Amino acid sequence: MDLSSWFEFTMYDAVFLAVVLGFFFYWLTRKEQPLPTPPKEVAPLQMTDMTLEELRKYDGVKNEHILFGLNGTIYDVTRGKGFYGPGKAYGTLAGHDATRALGTMDQTAVSDQWDDHTGLSAEEQETANEWETQFKFKYLTVGRLVQNDSDKADYGSRKSFIRGAESLDSIIHGDSESKKDN
Ligand code: HEM
Repeated sequence: MDLSSWFEFTMYDAVFLAVVLGFFFYWLTRKEQPLPTPPKEVAPLQMTDMTLEELRKYDGVKNEHILFGLNGTIYDVTRGKGFYGPGKAYGTLAGHDATRALGTMDQTAVSDQWDDHTGLSAEEQETANEWETQFKFKYLTVGRLVQNDSDKADYGSRKSFIRGAESLDSIIHGDSESKKDN
């Protein structure tokens, strides 16, 4: 038996070996990808009602908390800053009453003036309600968007929280064990 024929090296063998060695070298020297850093959670705000003027401060620029109003309730949407942060797709909603924008699916439909939501069709109001159904399970409820300081409720020392199916009225009027701190 002619063993020398076993070790004959053709051009194709050389290319194949080079590719295998290349991959092996790459595998040995590859750098581990850094893990993405989890979003920084900001401490929940104290529950409070706000006027539009107060809400405007929470636009993600003047304050690290991003808030918006929806159907009269203020949500802390800071954890969604990829959506609502400065320059992001829905950043116009930050610090505003987002009801009309979300109801009409037009992120420019926000106003610096008080919006009593008149002119929204039943379908648009329903769309706004559907957003709210999601948000009350996703974002912290801070309080209510009120027109005057005198309309504000007292939440004691309660922190904003994921309200889920709980109604804000039941918290304000204290008919549940909802007054306790979170
Ligand atoms: C071409 C049109 C649009 C496309 C393709 C689109 C697509 C998306 C996608 C992929 C998400 C992320 C969903 C997720 O990760 O949970 C999103 C989120 C969102 N979209 Fe749109 N969108 C569009 C238009 C609009 C308009 C006009 C509005 C009205 C303001 C809107 C409001 C929102 C809001 C508020 C969120 C964030 C929801 C949250 O905070 O969880 N979108 N959109």
